[in-house]
Amino acid sequence: MSYPYQIQSLEAYHKAYRESVEDPETFWASVAGHFQWKKKWSRVLEWNFKEPRVEWFKDAKLNITENCIDRHLAEKGETPAIIWEPNNPQERTRIVTYNRLHKRVCQFAQVLKNNGVKKGDRVCIYMGMVPELAYAVLGCARIGAIHSVIFGGFSAQSIADRLQDAKAEFIVTCDGAYRGNKDIPLKAVIDDALIGNQTVKKVIVYTRTRTPVSMIKGRDLWWEDEMEHAEHQIEKEGKIEFPAEEMDAEDPLFILYTSGSTGKPKGVVHSSAGYMVWTNYTFVNTFQYQPGDIHFCTADIGWITGHSYILYGPLSDGATTLMFEGIPTWPDAGRFWEIVDKHQVNILYTAPTAIRSLMGFGLDPLKGKELSSLKILGTVGEPINVEAWNWYHEHVGKKRCPIVDTWWQTETGGCMITNLAGITPSKPGWATLPMPGVQPILVDENGKEVTEQDENGLWKGNLCIKAPWPSILRTTYGDHERCRLNYFSAYENLYFTGDGALKDENGFYRITGRVDDVLNVSGHRLGTAEIENAINMHAGVVESAVVGYPHDIKGQGVYAFVIYGHMHGDAESTRKDLLQTVSRIIGPIAKPDKIQFVSGLPKTRSGKIMRRILRKIAEGETGNLGDTTTLLDPGVVDEIRQGRI
Ligand code: WTA
Repeated sequence: MSYPYQIQSLEAYHKAYRESVEDPETFWASVAGHFQWKKKWSRVLEWNFKEPRVEWFKDAKLNITENCIDRHLAEKGETPAIIWEPNNPQERTRIVTYNRLHKRVCQFAQVLKNNGVKKGDRVCIYMGMVPELAYAVLGCARIGAIHSVIFGGFSAQSIADRLQDAKAEFIVTCDGAYRGNKDIPLKAVIDDALIGNQTVKKVIVYTRTRTPVSMIKGRDLWWEDEMEHAEHQIEKEGKIEFPAEEMDAEDPLFILYTSGSTGKPKGVVHSSAGYMVWTNYTFVNTFQYQPGDIHFCTADIGWITGHSYILYGPLSDGATTLMFEGIPTWPDAGRFWEIVDKHQVNILYTAPTAIRSLMGFGLDPLKGKELSSLKILGTVGEPINVEAWNWYHEHVGKKRCPIVDTWWQTETGGCMITNLAGITPSKPGWATLPMPGVQPILVDENGKEVTEQDENGLWKGNLCIKAPWPSILRTTYGDHERCRLNYFSAYENLYFTGDGALKDENGFYRITGRVDDVLNVSGHRLGTAEIENAINMHAGVVESAVVGYPHDIKGQGVYAFVIYGHMHGDAESTRKDLLQTVSRIIGPIAKPDKIQFVSGLPKTRSGKIMRRILRKIAEGETGNLGDTTTLLDPGVVDEIRQGRI
């Protein structure tokens, strides 16, 4: 589909931007007019950031799967919706047409219904990157159940916490998942997560690896049996049809857990209509998708990028989306390029950490790979360093392809600040201009707009957004106050992103990174408090403090300072025990890169850990550590500095 709201020139961008700010209701009503609604809205937008309360397309009724599937069937029934590339390149690719996707999603919605899932119920999905994961997600949306996808790298304990928070009653999983040369036993992890769980009634297991699994009578079911049964039930006149549940515009579509600066991960809740409109609008405009293009987003569906730009954005546009099961470095570091060549990929969207890691293998893996199909490249998840940008531009895009540097967050649902491929200018390392509908503002600590330029002629401050865009998070599941405190209380009447940013004279933004206690490790969000809590669970640990430090490939690494009681064995084996503990409590993705044992931590007289000092030490700062006079015991700083690893 090509929409009238696809921006095709710089002037058109400025015009759209102006209109979106001057009269957002008219602007978004006009965009939303191109979707399929069961009933139109009574009001486009009502909001206040105090409570906060945001309602888009009030009273409208819809089902997002009709927009992602049904409405494309007449013209694109036999067009590939999903091209699936398996982990093992020897295995067969699967092509899922829109007709097939429709059939499978309807079938799976029936499976959910047969097992007692109703509108509003929470379904937790813990699967590898197989097409069935897409069917599960969309099947939930079809029946109006709220999906909560959990990334395969999280531990049983993390899953248990999320199941409890979401009060989930259903789980969809796989026996195992292939990632590189590993076979990850997903069902066994789920079994551990379910020990002591009181709410989960059914677990549906898709067979991927044929890893032996335990199947508990009355609770665990095979996907294949359930799907076959559903197929017979809903076949009418040779067609499979499961009516899409009528959803209110503001009914939650999904929960996605993400790390914040305090406590356990919170369940970010996205709405049905606003999320649909935003992911579609941003997909069409950022990537300048043209009918027939193959879009390859390398993210995992366990993260927001996969939700928005593997599934909902592309599918709502009738696009062809490529889903990859494996990892960029297996069987070798040429895998992405091989996939681009094999499937004639036109748009490649990946993370700076992946680019940096592939850069490390040199140019050999690119040899013999035909990359001329590529038209547009994109990055997301963290600031991209100029070196990586140049490499991507030169060796992957052959200097022909615009690179979009897209800044956004789990909470924003889709791209917020980014250049539009080939339409608005790019600047290496800069996300550049806001999307129509996004009104950024840089503020100082007191919430005052930054008006003074720094010595480089740039404005520098904390990045906030002044007004709601359609897919702003609506709440954090089960705890609205937490949502208010996290995002809407730091500065009055502003949404606070947690990021710091610079702005130049052209109005371009450069996101410099988090200003709160959130780390961005290989593009994964982790809270320092969350990792500290996990370390502190270890029997011998007295106290710990975790900070980030610059890491060549991961962007940020995790540095843990640990006060340990009596050591059981030597420091090295204790370190390994701690890594094991963090793996168990959160997952392998949160394992510290460095653990330094210390006898004390720098604290103020009121007992607060001075992270600023630890951060500087972790970063390798040897000189000035700033004011240490307020420390309870300044001596501890020298000891820590000397012991730095
Ligand atoms: C960071 C991922 C610089 C940022 C979609 C944000 C970026 C956090 C960029 C959200 C970018 C994302 N340039 N930093 N282009 N994109 N970030 O929730 O710190 O996993 O707050 O969403 O990633 O991470 P999340």
